[in-house]
Amino acid sequence: MASSVRQPWHLLLIVLLPSLAMATVFDNNYVPSWGADGYHLVDQGTEPRLTMDRTSGAGFRSRSTYGSGFFRMRIKVPGGYTAGVVTAFYLASEAPYDGSDRDEVDFEFLGNVDGENITLQTNVFVNGDGDREQRLNLWFDPAADFHEYKILWNPYQLVILVDDVPIRVLRNLTGQVPEYEFPAKQMGVRASLWDGSDWATDGGRIKIDWGRAPFTAGFRGFDVDACANTSSTPCDSTDLWWNARRHRRLSVREQAAYEHVRRTYMNYDYCADKDRFQNGKVPVECSYTT
Ligand SMILES: *[C@@H]1O[C@H](CO)[C@@H](O)[C@H](O)[C@H]1NC(C)=O
Ligand SMILES: *[C@@H]1O[C@H](CO)[C@@H](O)[C@H](O)[C@H]1NC(C)=O
Ligand SMILES: *[C@@H]1O[C@H](CO)[C@@H](O)[C@H](O)[C@H]1NC(C)=O
Repeated sequence: MASSVRQPWHLLLIVLLPSLAMATVFDNNYVPSWGADGYHLVDQGTEPRLTMDRTSGAGFRSRSTYGSGFFRMRIKVPGGYTAGVVTAFYLASEAPYDGSDRDEVDFEFLGNVDGENITLQTNVFVNGDGDREQRLNLWFDPAADFHEYKILWNPYQLVILVDDVPIRVLRNLTGQVPEYEFPAKQMGVRASLWDGSDWATDGGRIKIDWGRAPFTAGFRGFDVDACANTSSTPCDSTDLWWNARRHRRLSVREQAAYEHVRRTYMNYDYCADKDRFQNGKVPVECSYTT
């Protein structure tokens, strides 16, 4: 069409180029929580690194808390001999400070000895109750490169994804199913690198070997698509894209990918571990897995 010749393409470039060049920097949405001594947490703008040695690990947190959203982080976890080393990316509510009443959604990468795979553990806490671990043997080595880890949390469901593949789904059936629990508190985003020697590797039998330190994890991608506590839009508003209809249930394709992951890569599911619960009674959401 002749008219397209006159389209002001240069204007489009002026709009697009700066946004391509400027990935959201760490400081816009995050602050260090510990280890900010210029070594354990190094803020390189768009790619902070957390390092752990005998003296300290490190962590960071979002400036805001959120009531819904699609949270994402690109992470490259420490490689080599990492038994006892835990890299975490999670959402957590704040008060009270002892954590007894907290809501939390966790990605925890459990390090391992040379030649053994890193395990991805996920967990969900509601009102301080978190006996909901699931563990996966990933289909890639999370220490070899950056991958994207995401949490969709809206009034309809909580979905945990690895590179767009759903690995865990918790539907919000509160109000429909008695005793059903779903995270409802405002949560902040956090990441950390810490010593989990007492539990992380082979149930705590294999400890950190400090001779292999320092251990370093890289992080990228500091945009936050979520309903902040400062937002004037209610967090359940359908104007927020992560609350839209297509994010209320998995698509057919996502459902198939999810079932494939559970069948192929999951090696622990609390719902299948009846011995752990009083009278073998697993939590109520185990009857409603999609
Ligand atoms: C939002 O959450 C942050 C982090 O907890 C807090 O410092 C801030 O005061 C909160 N703001 C409002 C308006 O509640
Ligand atoms: C380690 O993970 C790879 C896929 O990344 C898989 O092929 C292999 O079987 C796993 N090894 C063990 C011991 O589970
Ligand atoms: C879960 O669903 C209930 C019932 O519809 C609703 O009241 C609640 O706000 C939802 N939870 C979240 C976190 O949106």
